[in-house]
Amino acid sequence: MTWDPATYGVFAQPRLRPALDLMARIGAEAPERVVDLGCGTGNVTRLLAARWPAATVAGLDSSPEMLAAARIEAPGIAFTRADAGTWRPEPPVDVLFSNAALHWLDDHAALLPRLLAGVAPGGWLAVQMPRNHGAPSHTGMVAAARSGPWATKLAPLLRPSPVAEPAVYYDLLAPLAAEIDIWETEYLHILDGADPVLRWTMGTALKPLVDVLDDSERPAFLADYAARMRAAYPPRSDGKTLFPFRRVFLVARQRPLSAAP
Ligand SMILES: C[S@@+](CC[C@H](N)C(=O)[O-])C[C@H]1O[C@@H](n2cnc3c(N)ncnc32)[C@H](O)[C@@H]1O
Repeated sequence: MTWDPATYGVFAQPRLRPALDLMARIGAEAPERVVDLGCGTGNVTRLLAARWPAATVAGLDSSPEMLAAARIEAPGIAFTRADAGTWRPEPPVDVLFSNAALHWLDDHAALLPRLLAGVAPGGWLAVQMPRNHGAPSHTGMVAAARSGPWATKLAPLLRPSPVAEPAVYYDLLAPLAAEIDIWETEYLHILDGADPVLRWTMGTALKPLVDVLDDSERPAFLADYAARMRAAYPPRSDGKTLFPFRRVFLVARQRPLSAAP
């Protein structure tokens, strides 16, 4: 997927709130090494650096476009291209933070324990992922993708969400962690303007579909999806659109070094 920082940034404010909620639950006081995995445009990386000014903070992302935006957003921070699917922290980090990124990777049963293993003794793994793949914003995308002449082109791109129920993450991480906190929040985003849900998903899940369509297909596909979104999320009497959005949060503390016998 090619990311477009400007399209993603249209809803920067409502997208920031879960990152702040995640950050608030990390108990680290004086971490030395902090990594923002899937850092995107670096606006959250900058806040991690502000919270722990003595730490070495790094942003990692697989998208050159997002990294270029991040280097402008936070020039004092090192932003590096890396694939979270293969990256291993060396040496281990004290805070491994990942906001709204790991749902782009499969096989969480292997991924999450591997990431926790890269956290130093007593350190923190903090992850937030959308868990709204059953919402009309996503089911409507699948329906629109399958319901036109573009279906053969789009069907192979319809990826089932790898994000599991909270209990699955508890079973994966609790046996490995000293402390664990898992919760879900459904935000109620209050959006302005025409077709706001389409404009929101255009920054993320909708974009890979739109990118493969040609000019003769794109308008009809977008019109189909927009109509579904208007029906599922009708504007209120004041013109605002309410967009419920559920997210799962995982905060796991690595075990401390065992005391010498
Ligand atoms: C929705 S954005 C979130 C960005 C940022 N964390 C934030 O809170 O605004 C998802 C980011 O994950 C990155 N990403 C997706 N797959 C990745 C992978 N395999 N390795 C590293 N980054 C990845 C994308 O490039 C994108 O910048």
